[in-house]
Amino acid sequence: MSMEKKGILLAGGTGSRFFPVTKAVNKHFLAIYNKPMFFYPLSILMIGGIKKIQIVSDDESLLKFDKILSQMDLDVEFSFQSQNEPVGIADGLLKSEKFLGKSDFALILGDNFYFGQSLSAQIKQLMKKKNCIVTTKNNNPENFGVVKYDGDKIIDIVEKPKQFISNVIVTGLYTYENKCIEIAKNLKPSGRGELEISDLNSYLIKNDMLETLDLGRGTVWFDAGTPDDLIRASEFVKLIQERSGFEIANLNEINNEFIKKK
Ligand code: DAU
Repeated sequence: MSMEKKGILLAGGTGSRFFPVTKAVNKHFLAIYNKPMFFYPLSILMIGGIKKIQIVSDDESLLKFDKILSQMDLDVEFSFQSQNEPVGIADGLLKSEKFLGKSDFALILGDNFYFGQSLSAQIKQLMKKKNCIVTTKNNNPENFGVVKYDGDKIIDIVEKPKQFISNVIVTGLYTYENKCIEIAKNLKPSGRGELEISDLNSYLIKNDMLETLDLGRGTVWFDAGTPDDLIRASEFVKLIQERSGFEIANLNEINNEFIKKK
């Protein structure tokens, strides 16, 4: 039986690195150049052809996501799920249990940004996978989930390791089979009190259930988690748009190309 993947966009969190503005507005509404931050990860799910997407955030923000999206006339069925306490990415995933039903799904973090010539082909490939993480090289692996190798074989994912493990990190885009919901229910909170997505991934690796897709040379990734990241992302989008004449994360365009035509 084949069922289309559903999508989850996680856009909760406290946004503490953007205080005090995030006391008044959720980080995911801040602009990366000319669009709200969440348009960029949302565009990735839409490029994947996903037509049912749930946004997970705090109640107050959910109204605003609805307000923005309902005016856009996209052929995506959006639903909105509250996570008022940001106690982990895996917790956010569990909040979507009802929405997911029996479906497999893709999960993306609301502050993640991807760009590249072969990106849509890579996403297409990813959407065919059961359980898969998307990796890239990074010079500051200590800030991320990091891939641990034994030779060429991936043996673990470690969340924000204090000691160097490798420079290959896990980005915030994942596909999972439906049964991962049950697996996530058995996770225990980490030292920082969160249900960690890296613990789910680590479990899947140990049970030989996880694939990886590496972005490689031609695709850039970053998260807009800090003020510096945000301004770098804005400058990047501005430059690419001006020099190429094409818009990044234009949801109407992507809707026509990847959702309507399907
Ligand atoms: O960006 C990639 C990294 O994202 C991965 O390499 C890490 O393995 C993963 O744990 C995550 O690390 P961060 O520390 O950057 O996650 P952060 O808490 O900043 O949250 C990332 C996004 O997820 C952000 O857009 C807010 C959202 N979020 C987060 C939590 C903890 C939620 O919606 N709910 C939550 O409970």
